[in-house]
Amino acid sequence: MKKLFYIDACMREGSNTKKIAEAVVRELSKRYDVECVRLSEMAFPVVNNDILVERNNGFVPEEYVTMAKKIAAADRLVIAAPFWDMSFPSALKVFLENMSLFNITFNSNEKECYGLCKAEKVLYITTRGMNISTGDALEQATPYIKALSRLWGLGELSVIAAQNMDYSTEEQKAEKVKAAIAEGMRLCEKF
Ligand SMILES: Cc1cc2nc3c(=O)[nH]c(=O)nc-3n(C[C@H](O)[C@H](O)[C@H](O)COP(=O)(O)O)c2cc1C
Repeated sequence: MKKLFYIDACMREGSNTKKIAEAVVRELSKRYDVECVRLSEMAFPVVNNDILVERNNGFVPEEYVTMAKKIAAADRLVIAAPFWDMSFPSALKVFLENMSLFNITFNSNEKECYGLCKAEKVLYITTRGMNISTGDALEQATPYIKALSRLWGLGELSVIAAQNMDYSTEEQKAEKVKAAIAEGMRLCEKF
């Protein structure tokens, strides 16, 4: 079976982003072997000077190497993250920094960096409080994921987003989650 790596960066209990992502990943698990990392349950360290010195001396914790190798080898990547401060939770950035490892997720030649990841398709699932659409200049999560995809060599990015959540009634929110799941199910057919 092909492999899917699922990064769950949903931080809040009752997360609407997670409701969408779990339904979509459940559907995809019929065709992919799913490996999941739930960032709300982990504490990846901020990459600081000590970590950089260790890296320069050739040391990276074995568990991070193993996880980064799984990401690099995955056929598909799913990222679920709520829209926080016009981007995504810092836990996701910290995680990605810990996974951005030379010779594993990316490499370099004499001119530039290039990716080592295998995934031809990436799915980013989010919900936003304000009425901000994917591609709006105020939306700084998708551009970052696209840029990192370039560094890591990841393929086509699809985005499923529900927006204006914080200005919707509970009923409207449930409708938006339902619509996003339906969109996800359609996307699953060609993902
Ligand atoms: C810490 C925090 C920061 C947020 N920042 C923004 C923001 O900058 N822009 C916005 O539109 N919504 C913002 N929101 C609202 C969330 O994007 C919105 O409630 C979203 O649906 C939460 O997703 P969840 O249900 O998966 O937790 C923020 C919410 C939290 C808790």
